[in-house]
Amino acid sequence: MTYPLGLNLAGRAVLVVGGGPDAARRTRSLLAEAALVDLVAPDLHDTLRDLTSSPGLTWHERAFRPGDLDGAWLVFLHVSDSGERERVALAAEERRVLCVADDAAPGPDRAADTRAPVTQVPVTETRVAQDQVSQAPVTQEPGTVALVGGGPGDPGLLTVRGRQLLADADVIVADRLGPTDLLPELARHARIIDVGKRAGYHKYTQDRINETLVEQAKLGLRVVRLKGGDPYVFGRGGEEVEFCRAHGVATQVVPGVTSAISVPAAAGIPVTHRDMTHGFTVITAHQHLRRVPYRDGHTLILMMGVRGLGRNAELLMAAGYPADTPVAVVERGWTPTQRTTVAQLDTIAYVARAREVTAPAVIVVGRVAALAHESSAIPGPQESDQEG
Ligand SMILES: C[S@@+](CC[C@H](N)C(=O)[O-])C[C@H]1O[C@@H](n2cnc3c(N)ncnc32)[C@H](O)[C@@H]1O
Repeated sequence: MTYPLGLNLAGRAVLVVGGGPDAARRTRSLLAEAALVDLVAPDLHDTLRDLTSSPGLTWHERAFRPGDLDGAWLVFLHVSDSGERERVALAAEERRVLCVADDAAPGPDRAADTRAPVTQVPVTETRVAQDQVSQAPVTQEPGTVALVGGGPGDPGLLTVRGRQLLADADVIVADRLGPTDLLPELARHARIIDVGKRAGYHKYTQDRINETLVEQAKLGLRVVRLKGGDPYVFGRGGEEVEFCRAHGVATQVVPGVTSAISVPAAAGIPVTHRDMTHGFTVITAHQHLRRVPYRDGHTLILMMGVRGLGRNAELLMAAGYPADTPVAVVERGWTPTQRTTVAQLDTIAYVARAREVTAPAVIVVGRVAALAHESSAIPGPQESDQEG
Protein backbone atom coordinates (compact mmCIF):
# COMPACT_ATOMS: atom_id res chain seq x y z
CA MET A 1 0.00 0.00 0.00
CA THR A 2 1.22 3.52 -0.71
CA TYR A 3 -0.15 6.81 0.49
CA PRO A 4 -0.13 9.67 -2.07
CA LEU A 5 1.44 12.92 -0.84
CA GLY A 6 2.08 16.29 -2.46
CA LEU A 7 5.30 17.62 -0.95
CA ASN A 8 6.88 21.03 -1.25
CA LEU A 9 10.55 20.13 -1.62
CA ALA A 10 11.92 23.58 -2.40
CA GLY A 11 15.18 24.03 -0.49
CA ARG A 12 14.98 20.53 1.04
CA ALA A 13 17.84 18.06 0.84
CA VAL A 14 16.90 14.99 -1.19
CA LEU A 15 19.14 12.04 -1.91
CA VAL A 16 19.00 10.16 -5.21
CA VAL A 17 20.85 6.85 -5.37
CA GLY A 18 21.49 5.49 -8.86
CA GLY A 19 22.88 6.65 -12.18
CA GLY A 20 20.40 5.37 -14.80
CA PRO A 21 17.73 7.15 -16.81
CA ASP A 22 15.12 6.73 -14.08
CA ALA A 23 17.45 8.51 -11.68
CA ALA A 24 17.90 11.17 -14.38
CA ARG A 25 14.18 11.76 -14.69
CA ARG A 26 13.81 11.83 -10.94
CA THR A 27 16.67 14.30 -10.59
CA ARG A 28 15.29 16.56 -13.30
CA SER A 29 11.86 16.72 -11.72
CA LEU A 30 13.37 17.36 -8.26
CA LEU A 31 15.49 20.21 -9.62
CA ALA A 32 12.39 21.62 -11.29
CA GLU A 33 10.86 21.72 -7.79
CA ALA A 34 13.95 23.54 -6.44
CA ALA A 35 14.99 20.62 -4.23
CA LEU A 36 18.67 20.34 -3.20
CA VAL A 37 19.72 17.05 -4.72
CA ASP A 38 22.64 14.86 -3.66
CA LEU A 39 23.21 12.24 -6.31
CA VAL A 40 25.19 9.15 -5.39
CA ALA A 41 26.37 6.86 -8.21
CA PRO A 42 29.76 5.59 -9.33
CA ASP A 43 28.75 6.03 -12.96
CA LEU A 44 26.15 8.13 -14.77
CA HIS A 45 23.93 7.60 -17.80
CA ASP A 46 24.46 10.34 -20.41
CA THR A 47 21.15 12.02 -19.59
CA LEU A 48 22.30 12.42 -15.98
CA ARG A 49 25.82 13.49 -16.85
CA ASP A 50 24.29 16.47 -18.70
CA LEU A 51 22.70 17.59 -15.43
CA THR A 52 25.76 17.52 -13.20
CA SER A 53 26.47 21.22 -13.65
CA SER A 54 22.89 22.20 -12.65
CA PRO A 55 22.60 24.49 -9.64
CA GLY A 56 21.18 22.54 -6.71
CA LEU A 57 22.79 19.25 -7.73
CA THR A 58 25.87 17.65 -6.17
CA TRP A 59 27.18 14.41 -7.65
CA HIS A 60 29.09 12.01 -5.38
CA GLU A 61 30.98 9.74 -7.76
CA ARG A 62 31.01 6.58 -5.70
CA ALA A 63 28.81 3.90 -4.15
CA PHE A 64 26.25 4.72 -1.46
CA ARG A 65 27.38 5.18 2.17
CA PRO A 66 24.91 5.32 5.07
CA GLY A 67 26.29 8.76 5.98
CA ASP A 68 24.82 10.06 2.70
CA LEU A 69 21.46 10.02 4.45
CA ASP A 70 22.50 12.53 7.07
CA GLY A 71 20.40 15.65 6.67
CA ALA A 72 18.25 14.17 3.88
CA TRP A 73 14.45 14.39 4.11
CA LEU A 74 13.83 11.84 1.46
CA VAL A 75 15.77 9.27 -0.55
CA PHE A 76 14.89 8.01 -4.02
CA LEU A 77 16.32 4.63 -4.82
CA HIS A 78 16.98 3.91 -8.49
CA VAL A 79 19.43 1.01 -8.47
CA SER A 80 18.93 -2.44 -9.95
CA ASP A 81 21.21 -4.48 -7.64
CA SER A 82 18.97 -6.07 -5.02
CA GLY A 83 21.71 -6.17 -2.35
CA GLU A 84 22.42 -2.48 -2.82
CA ARG A 85 18.71 -1.66 -2.76
CA GLU A 86 18.30 -3.48 0.52
CA ARG A 87 21.36 -1.79 2.04
CA VAL A 88 20.05 1.70 1.19
CA ALA A 89 16.50 0.89 2.28
CA LEU A 90 17.68 -0.50 5.62
CA ALA A 91 19.96 2.45 6.32
CA ALA A 92 17.07 4.82 5.52
CA GLU A 93 14.74 2.86 7.78
CA GLU A 94 17.22 3.05 10.67
CA ARG A 95 17.55 6.82 10.29
CA ARG A 96 13.81 7.36 9.76
CA VAL A 97 14.37 8.87 6.33
CA LEU A 98 11.54 8.22 3.87
CA CYS A 99 12.74 5.93 1.10
CA VAL A 100 10.95 5.73 -2.26
CA ALA A 101 12.13 2.85 -4.43
CA ASP A 102 11.15 2.19 -8.02
CA ASP A 103 10.26 -1.34 -9.08
CA ALA A 104 13.31 -2.41 -11.10
CA ALA A 105 15.74 0.32 -11.91
CA PRO A 106 18.01 -0.52 -14.81
CA GLY A 107 21.66 0.49 -14.62
CA PRO A 108 23.14 3.06 -16.98
CA ASP A 109 24.20 0.60 -19.67
CA ARG A 110 21.16 -1.62 -19.75
CA ALA A 111 18.86 1.34 -19.83
CA ALA A 112 20.70 2.89 -22.72
CA ASP A 113 20.21 -0.29 -24.68
CA THR A 114 16.51 -0.63 -24.02
CA ARG A 115 15.72 2.95 -24.96
CA ALA A 116 17.99 3.26 -27.96
CA PRO A 117 15.81 1.73 -30.69
CA VAL A 118 12.98 4.03 -29.83
CA THR A 119 14.81 7.27 -29.27
CA GLN A 120 15.94 7.44 -32.84
CA VAL A 121 12.46 7.30 -34.34
CA PRO A 122 11.16 10.72 -35.42
CA VAL A 123 7.80 11.33 -33.80
CA THR A 124 6.15 12.64 -36.94
CA GLU A 125 6.87 9.62 -39.11
CA THR A 126 4.78 6.51 -39.42
CA ARG A 127 7.02 4.09 -37.63
CA VAL A 128 5.69 0.64 -38.28
CA ALA A 129 3.27 -1.13 -40.53
CA GLN A 130 -0.33 -0.99 -39.37
CA ASP A 131 -0.45 -4.60 -38.20
CA GLN A 132 2.60 -4.11 -35.99
CA VAL A 133 1.41 -1.03 -34.14
CA SER A 134 0.35 -2.86 -31.01
CA GLN A 135 3.85 -4.30 -30.65
CA ALA A 136 5.60 -0.94 -30.85
CA PRO A 137 7.38 -0.15 -27.58
CA VAL A 138 5.72 2.62 -25.62
CA THR A 139 8.19 5.25 -24.62
CA GLN A 140 8.40 8.96 -24.38
CA GLU A 141 11.50 11.00 -24.96
CA PRO A 142 12.50 13.53 -22.31
CA GLY A 143 11.53 17.03 -23.38
CA THR A 144 8.38 15.94 -25.23
CA VAL A 145 4.65 16.12 -24.59
CA ALA A 146 2.25 13.17 -24.85
CA LEU A 147 -1.44 13.99 -25.07
CA VAL A 148 -3.19 11.08 -23.42
CA GLY A 149 -6.93 10.50 -23.60
CA GLY A 150 -8.01 9.41 -20.14
CA GLY A 151 -11.47 8.12 -21.07
CA PRO A 152 -14.66 9.12 -19.28
CA GLY A 153 -13.53 8.56 -15.69
CA ASP A 154 -13.33 4.84 -15.03
CA PRO A 155 -9.64 3.83 -14.85
CA GLY A 156 -10.55 0.59 -16.64
CA LEU A 157 -11.29 2.68 -19.71
CA LEU A 158 -7.82 4.19 -19.89
CA THR A 159 -5.73 2.58 -22.64
CA VAL A 160 -2.73 0.41 -21.84
CA ARG A 161 -0.51 2.85 -23.72
CA GLY A 162 -1.92 5.76 -21.76
CA ARG A 163 -1.21 3.97 -18.48
CA GLN A 164 2.36 3.26 -19.48
CA LEU A 165 3.04 6.85 -20.38
CA LEU A 166 1.48 8.03 -17.12
CA ALA A 167 3.62 5.60 -15.13
CA ASP A 168 6.79 6.94 -16.80
CA ALA A 169 5.86 10.63 -16.77
CA ASP A 170 7.81 13.26 -14.86
CA VAL A 171 4.97 15.79 -14.97
CA ILE A 172 1.27 15.32 -15.61
CA VAL A 173 -0.82 18.28 -16.63
CA ALA A 174 -4.31 17.06 -15.79
CA ASP A 175 -7.86 18.16 -16.55
CA ARG A 176 -10.81 17.87 -14.21
CA LEU A 177 -12.57 15.14 -16.21
CA GLY A 178 -11.12 11.68 -16.72
CA PRO A 179 -9.56 9.25 -14.22
CA THR A 180 -8.05 12.01 -12.07
CA ASP A 181 -8.84 10.43 -8.67
CA LEU A 182 -6.48 7.58 -9.38
CA LEU A 183 -3.62 9.71 -10.64
CA PRO A 184 -1.46 9.28 -7.54
CA GLU A 185 -1.71 5.53 -8.07
CA LEU A 186 -1.35 5.55 -11.86
CA ALA A 187 1.55 7.98 -11.82
CA ARG A 188 3.48 7.46 -8.67
CA HIS A 189 6.59 9.31 -9.69
CA ALA A 190 5.15 12.33 -11.42
CA ARG A 191 4.42 15.83 -10.27
CA ILE A 192 0.78 16.63 -11.00
CA ILE A 193 -0.28 20.05 -12.23
CA ASP A 194 -4.05 20.38 -11.99
CA VAL A 195 -5.30 22.73 -14.68
CA GLY A 196 -8.91 21.54 -14.40
CA LYS A 197 -11.31 24.17 -15.57
CA ARG A 198 -14.50 24.60 -13.61
CA ALA A 199 -17.48 26.35 -15.18
CA GLY A 200 -17.28 30.05 -14.39
CA TYR A 201 -13.91 29.65 -12.66
CA HIS A 202 -11.00 29.09 -14.96
CA LYS A 203 -7.90 28.49 -12.88
CA TYR A 204 -5.75 28.08 -15.96
CA THR A 205 -6.54 29.72 -19.28
CA GLN A 206 -5.89 27.70 -22.43
CA ASP A 207 -2.93 29.96 -23.19
CA ARG A 208 -1.47 29.26 -19.77
CA ILE A 209 -1.96 25.52 -20.25
CA ASN A 210 -0.16 25.68 -23.61
CA GLU A 211 2.70 27.60 -22.05
CA THR A 212 2.95 25.19 -19.12
CA LEU A 213 3.31 22.24 -21.49
CA VAL A 214 6.14 23.92 -23.37
CA GLU A 215 7.87 25.21 -20.21
CA GLN A 216 7.87 21.77 -18.58
CA ALA A 217 9.04 20.01 -21.73
CA LYS A 218 11.87 22.51 -22.12
CA LEU A 219 13.09 21.53 -18.66
CA GLY A 220 13.82 18.17 -20.25
CA LEU A 221 10.88 16.42 -18.60
CA ARG A 222 8.50 13.82 -19.96
CA VAL A 223 5.23 15.71 -19.92
CA VAL A 224 1.88 13.93 -20.14
CA ARG A 225 -1.13 16.07 -20.89
CA LEU A 226 -3.98 14.00 -19.52
CA LYS A 227 -7.36 14.91 -20.95
CA GLY A 228 -10.83 13.56 -20.33
CA GLY A 229 -12.21 11.28 -23.05
CA ASP A 230 -10.32 11.63 -26.30
CA PRO A 231 -7.89 14.53 -26.73
CA TYR A 232 -9.20 15.32 -30.20
CA VAL A 233 -12.94 15.30 -29.44
CA PHE A 234 -13.79 18.79 -28.19
CA GLY A 235 -10.68 18.64 -26.07
CA ARG A 236 -8.58 21.41 -27.64
CA GLY A 237 -5.92 18.79 -28.20
CA GLY A 238 -5.30 20.09 -31.71
CA GLU A 239 -4.44 23.54 -30.40
CA GLU A 240 -2.09 22.17 -27.76
CA VAL A 241 -0.24 20.04 -30.30
CA GLU A 242 0.10 23.02 -32.67
CA PHE A 243 1.42 25.24 -29.89
CA CYS A 244 4.00 22.65 -28.80
CA ARG A 245 5.18 22.09 -32.35
CA ALA A 246 5.42 25.82 -33.00
CA HIS A 247 7.77 25.99 -30.00
CA GLY A 248 9.91 23.09 -31.11
CA VAL A 249 8.46 20.53 -28.69
CA ALA A 250 7.68 17.11 -30.16
CA THR A 251 4.34 15.55 -29.33
CA GLN A 252 2.52 12.26 -29.53
CA VAL A 253 -1.18 11.57 -29.08
CA VAL A 254 -2.74 8.57 -27.40
CA PRO A 255 -6.44 8.39 -28.22
CA GLY A 256 -8.94 7.87 -25.45
CA VAL A 257 -12.43 6.46 -25.07
CA THR A 258 -14.60 9.46 -25.81
CA SER A 259 -17.49 10.27 -23.51
CA ALA A 260 -19.57 11.06 -26.61
CA ILE A 261 -20.04 7.35 -27.21
CA SER A 262 -19.06 5.66 -23.97
CA VAL A 263 -21.29 7.68 -21.64
CA PRO A 264 -24.48 6.86 -23.57
CA ALA A 265 -23.29 3.24 -23.61
CA ALA A 266 -22.95 3.30 -19.81
CA ALA A 267 -26.64 4.18 -19.66
CA GLY A 268 -27.60 1.40 -22.07
CA ILE A 269 -27.83 3.59 -25.18
CA PRO A 270 -26.18 2.42 -28.39
CA VAL A 271 -25.48 5.50 -30.51
CA THR A 272 -26.34 3.50 -33.60
CA HIS A 273 -28.80 0.65 -33.78
CA ARG A 274 -29.58 -1.34 -36.88
CA ASP A 275 -33.33 -0.96 -36.47
CA MET A 276 -33.39 2.67 -35.40
CA THR A 277 -30.46 4.82 -36.42
CA HIS A 278 -27.79 4.61 -39.03
CA GLY A 279 -25.44 7.31 -37.97
CA PHE A 280 -24.69 9.91 -35.34
CA THR A 281 -23.48 13.48 -35.04
CA VAL A 282 -21.45 14.75 -32.10
CA ILE A 283 -21.78 18.46 -31.55
CA THR A 284 -21.25 20.90 -28.70
CA ALA A 285 -24.40 22.61 -27.64
CA HIS A 286 -22.55 25.91 -28.02
CA GLN A 287 -22.63 25.44 -31.74
CA HIS A 288 -25.49 26.57 -33.95
CA LEU A 289 -28.10 23.95 -33.38
CA ARG A 290 -30.41 25.69 -35.81
CA ARG A 291 -28.19 24.40 -38.57
CA VAL A 292 -28.58 20.76 -37.54
CA PRO A 293 -31.03 19.26 -40.02
CA TYR A 294 -33.58 16.84 -38.68
CA ARG A 295 -33.12 13.34 -39.99
CA ASP A 296 -35.12 10.44 -38.73
CA GLY A 297 -32.84 7.52 -38.08
CA HIS A 298 -29.95 9.69 -36.95
CA THR A 299 -28.67 10.24 -33.39
CA LEU A 300 -27.60 13.64 -32.15
CA ILE A 301 -25.09 13.72 -29.29
CA LEU A 302 -24.71 17.02 -27.48
CA MET A 303 -21.68 17.76 -25.33
CA MET A 304 -21.47 20.62 -22.81
CA GLY A 305 -25.21 21.10 -23.20
CA VAL A 306 -26.68 21.11 -19.71
CA ARG A 307 -26.68 24.82 -19.07
CA GLY A 308 -28.59 25.75 -22.22
CA LEU A 309 -30.74 22.64 -22.35
CA GLY A 310 -34.11 24.42 -22.68
CA ARG A 311 -32.90 26.74 -25.41
CA ASN A 312 -31.19 23.87 -27.22
CA ALA A 313 -34.35 21.79 -27.17
CA GLU A 314 -36.31 24.72 -28.64
CA LEU A 315 -33.75 25.22 -31.38
CA LEU A 316 -33.91 21.57 -32.32
CA MET A 317 -37.71 21.64 -32.50
CA ALA A 318 -37.48 24.76 -34.66
CA ALA A 319 -35.08 22.81 -36.91
CA GLY A 320 -37.74 20.13 -37.44
CA TYR A 321 -37.26 17.63 -34.61
CA PRO A 322 -40.66 16.34 -33.44
CA ALA A 323 -41.56 17.40 -29.89
CA ASP A 324 -41.85 13.77 -28.82
CA THR A 325 -38.27 12.86 -29.84
CA PRO A 326 -36.72 10.89 -26.96
CA VAL A 327 -33.92 12.64 -25.09
CA ALA A 328 -31.58 11.14 -22.50
CA VAL A 329 -29.23 13.15 -20.31
CA VAL A 330 -26.47 11.04 -18.80
CA GLU A 331 -24.62 12.78 -15.97
CA ARG A 332 -21.17 11.78 -14.69
CA GLY A 333 -20.95 8.67 -16.86
CA TRP A 334 -18.80 5.79 -15.61
CA THR A 335 -18.57 7.21 -12.11
CA PRO A 336 -20.35 5.93 -8.99
CA THR A 337 -22.79 8.85 -9.19
CA GLN A 338 -23.85 8.30 -12.79
CA ARG A 339 -27.49 9.20 -13.34
CA THR A 340 -29.71 9.18 -16.42
CA THR A 341 -32.75 11.32 -17.05
CA VAL A 342 -35.06 10.45 -19.93
CA ALA A 343 -37.84 12.63 -21.34
CA GLN A 344 -38.98 14.13 -24.67
CA LEU A 345 -37.62 17.14 -26.46
CA ASP A 346 -40.54 19.29 -25.28
CA THR A 347 -40.29 18.16 -21.63
CA ILE A 348 -36.59 17.55 -21.04
CA ALA A 349 -35.79 21.06 -19.82
CA TYR A 350 -38.53 20.89 -17.21
CA VAL A 351 -37.62 17.40 -16.07
CA ALA A 352 -33.90 18.15 -15.94
CA ARG A 353 -34.53 21.24 -13.85
CA ALA A 354 -36.75 19.28 -11.47
CA ARG A 355 -34.01 16.68 -11.09
CA GLU A 356 -31.31 19.34 -10.72
CA VAL A 357 -29.30 17.87 -13.56
CA THR A 358 -25.76 19.24 -13.65
CA ALA A 359 -22.68 19.07 -15.87
CA PRO A 360 -20.82 17.08 -16.96
CA ALA A 361 -23.42 15.24 -18.98
CA VAL A 362 -23.84 13.83 -22.45
CA ILE A 363 -27.23 14.46 -24.04
CA VAL A 364 -28.59 11.99 -26.57
CA VAL A 365 -31.40 13.05 -28.89
CA GLY A 366 -33.10 10.45 -31.09
CA ARG A 367 -34.90 7.16 -30.98
CA VAL A 368 -32.03 5.31 -29.30
CA ALA A 369 -32.37 7.57 -26.25
CA ALA A 370 -35.50 5.63 -25.35
CA LEU A 371 -33.34 2.54 -24.85
CA ALA A 372 -31.72 4.00 -21.73
CA HIS A 373 -31.95 1.68 -18.75
CA GLU A 374 -35.54 1.72 -17.64
CA SER A 375 -34.70 2.39 -14.02
CA SER A 376 -33.48 5.80 -15.06
CA ALA A 377 -36.64 6.87 -16.90
CA ILE A 378 -38.68 9.36 -14.91
CA PRO A 379 -42.15 10.86 -15.32
CA GLY A 380 -42.83 13.91 -17.51
CA PRO A 381 -44.15 17.22 -16.10
CA GLN A 382 -47.80 16.17 -15.93
CA GLU A 383 -47.19 13.09 -13.85
CA SER A 384 -44.71 14.99 -11.68
CA ASP A 385 -47.24 17.77 -11.11
CA GLN A 386 -49.81 15.23 -9.98
CA GLU A 387 -47.31 13.78 -7.56
CA GLY A 388 -46.41 17.16 -6.14
C1 LIG B 1 -14.61 19.74 -23.04
S1 LIG B 1 -15.60 18.37 -23.42
C2 LIG B 1 -14.39 17.12 -23.48
C3 LIG B 1 -14.82 15.87 -24.19
C4 LIG B 1 -13.75 14.79 -24.17
N1 LIG B 1 -12.60 15.18 -24.92
C5 LIG B 1 -14.25 13.46 -24.66
O1 LIG B 1 -13.84 12.97 -25.69
O2 LIG B 1 -15.08 12.87 -23.93
C6 LIG B 1 -16.40 18.12 -21.89
C7 LIG B 1 -17.76 17.50 -22.05
O3 LIG B 1 -17.63 16.10 -22.22
C8 LIG B 1 -18.73 15.45 -21.64
N2 LIG B 1 -18.22 14.51 -20.62
C9 LIG B 1 -16.93 14.19 -20.42
N3 LIG B 1 -16.81 13.23 -19.49
C10 LIG B 1 -18.08 12.93 -19.09
C11 LIG B 1 -18.62 12.01 -18.17
N4 LIG B 1 -17.87 11.18 -17.45
N5 LIG B 1 -19.97 11.98 -18.04
C12 LIG B 1 -20.76 12.79 -18.76
N6 LIG B 1 -20.29 13.68 -19.64
C13 LIG B 1 -18.97 13.74 -19.82
C14 LIG B 1 -19.63 16.53 -21.07
O4 LIG B 1 -20.57 16.89 -22.07
C15 LIG B 1 -18.65 17.63 -20.84
O5 LIG B 1 -19.30 18.89 -20.78
